[in-house]
Amino acid sequence: MENDKAKKRIDLESLINLRLSRRKAVQYGFGTLFSAALPLPALSETIVSNEVKKGLLSFKAIPIADLLDEVVVPEGYRAEVFYRWGDPVSDGPEFEMDASNTAKEQIQQAGMHHDAIQYYSLSQNNNGSEHGLLVMNHEYIDAQILHADGGIFDSPETYTLEKTLKEQYAHGMSVIEVKKLLTGWDIVRPSQYARRITAATAMSVSGPVAGTKYIKTVADPEGREILGTFNNCSNGKTPWGTYLTCEENFNDYFDVSSLSGISQKQQAAWQRYSINKSYYGWHKNDQRFNASLHPNEPNRFGWIVEFDPFDPDSKPIKRTAMGRFSHENVAHNIDENGRIAFYSGDDARFEYIYKFITQDCWDGTQGPQNSHLLDDGVLHVARFNEDGSGDWLPLVYGQGTLNSENGFADQADVLVHARKAADSLGATAMDRPEWITTHPESQDVYVSMTNNSKRGEKGKPDKGAANPRNNNKFGHIIKLEEDDATSTNFNWDVFVLAGDEKKHGTINGDIYANPDGLMIDSRGVLWVQTDVSSSKLNTGDFRQFGNNKMLAVDPNTGETRRFLTGPIACEITGVTMTPDLKTMWVNIQHPGEDVPEILKQDGTRKSASKPNAASNWPDHQAKGRPRSATVLITKNDGGIIGA
Ligand code: FEO
Ligand code: CA
Ligand code: CA
Repeated sequence: MENDKAKKRIDLESLINLRLSRRKAVQYGFGTLFSAALPLPALSETIVSNEVKKGLLSFKAIPIADLLDEVVVPEGYRAEVFYRWGDPVSDGPEFEMDASNTAKEQIQQAGMHHDAIQYYSLSQNNNGSEHGLLVMNHEYIDAQILHADGGIFDSPETYTLEKTLKEQYAHGMSVIEVKKLLTGWDIVRPSQYARRITAATAMSVSGPVAGTKYIKTVADPEGREILGTFNNCSNGKTPWGTYLTCEENFNDYFDVSSLSGISQKQQAAWQRYSINKSYYGWHKNDQRFNASLHPNEPNRFGWIVEFDPFDPDSKPIKRTAMGRFSHENVAHNIDENGRIAFYSGDDARFEYIYKFITQDCWDGTQGPQNSHLLDDGVLHVARFNEDGSGDWLPLVYGQGTLNSENGFADQADVLVHARKAADSLGATAMDRPEWITTHPESQDVYVSMTNNSKRGEKGKPDKGAANPRNNNKFGHIIKLEEDDATSTNFNWDVFVLAGDEKKHGTINGDIYANPDGLMIDSRGVLWVQTDVSSSKLNTGDFRQFGNNKMLAVDPNTGETRRFLTGPIACEITGVTMTPDLKTMWVNIQHPGEDVPEILKQDGTRKSASKPNAASNWPDHQAKGRPRSATVLITKNDGGIIGA
């Protein structure tokens, strides 16, 4: 089994050598635009393609979708619904359109609210592009759609433990096996790899916080085993082939019913992390979510979690050295010696961008045994200077202001309360940092700042060079350049200001607002996904952008073309491709989450009894309900997506 697994992994050692040699080639002026982040065959294919050499983007852009309840892609492309909430992961039960599936059934089915997704090759055939695993996050739930009579706010009298369990099991991750057949791509069922990880799955914890007083609870007096992960927003892939999932808005799951007996320090920490009221009500039936009774339980969330998707029995591990905050996603660069920098944004207004630098070098021969790299290293936070320079400030106990005089007891304290440590160091408060992606050739780092309507409000930070618009409705993308992945300083620039020109947008091509998901593929195309909130979509200043969408951008010229538009009131989030770039999967999250203002004018409202008031995608059944789903995208001529 071990040998088989080893064969299934990409030969990462040769990959890093390739990356390094290409980087040197660029330095000597022989570089190409094309990247070395994915296996060599894909690379050579893109290089020899005359069509691709002409320009990065060759498809005809599509128009905006104004309240259209479908996924649209350019002429010559095909989009197929592939894996919906409730679809069986392996040979489990089928979805019931009336939401009558039980908690026990939900745990064998796709979770809700698909977010980031990654493809892992399972065989070497055709560059590993015909058979693989898809691993994805199920970020959160919509209780009005998950249950036939809604959640705790719809029907408090019927909010049972069974409902709490179904909600917990609809969170987490899916691992599904996928294969390209003569008839097209399909999900392999049953599959030895298929797996659901949920808000109740046992996971271990490593790094400086493991076993410390900050995470010990009655149920886990050693502070070594945590139940579950939730609000898994975006993700990352390690160079050794494991999956990293990011715990974002974990605060929404805990309820503070009383502050009696809670220390001042703890109360201040809860305030800093917005822990006060549960959005879901799990504490009614599962007391560990009552923070007043179990004050350390919230400290066990807000981490990056690693697991090995190739081993269905592997136990996920919470990696505490990478800090605790609302992690959006994680992207990495590797320096010439093999030390790795992992970048992660904290998505809340006026929060920060972080970078964890490993102490040791990656050994490409060791596979998942490299995972210890995530336990030994230094977390840094970004300060953006007004002159276009920047500094990575270390979050190390005993250095700078991070000492007992300022209320920090030890390194575990610094990591559990990373936001407070970053405050103390003078990091730059940003406009909601969402995804980060790294260019596979130049290693430039792109970060989306999705919006911040509070920027410039009385008592809040004013605009600055890195967040240049007060009342930043439309968001922007920043580019960081570093000499090396392990550099502790950088240069930065605003790559683009989103929105229309009237509001000082600088987009070269099809306009969009609220950039969120970012991915640069191995050809160097920057894919940008948008998340205009359902309350603003298709109305006012946002009407001009239509439904949420995905665009393709040439990072060299800024040329921007609209590639995909989603159904009503959805967010587009998560994209992955096969190594040959001929297959893409995109996630459509929360279609029909809310009724757009323009529809509300005739009294239309969504409720548990009318879950499809806004969207009925993808099934469009009369008594149906909207379902988040993975969509498969291919080109009719079998070519490279986007070219
Ligand atoms: Fe889950 Fe910040 O998006
Ligand atoms: Ca997001
Ligand atoms: Ca968002």
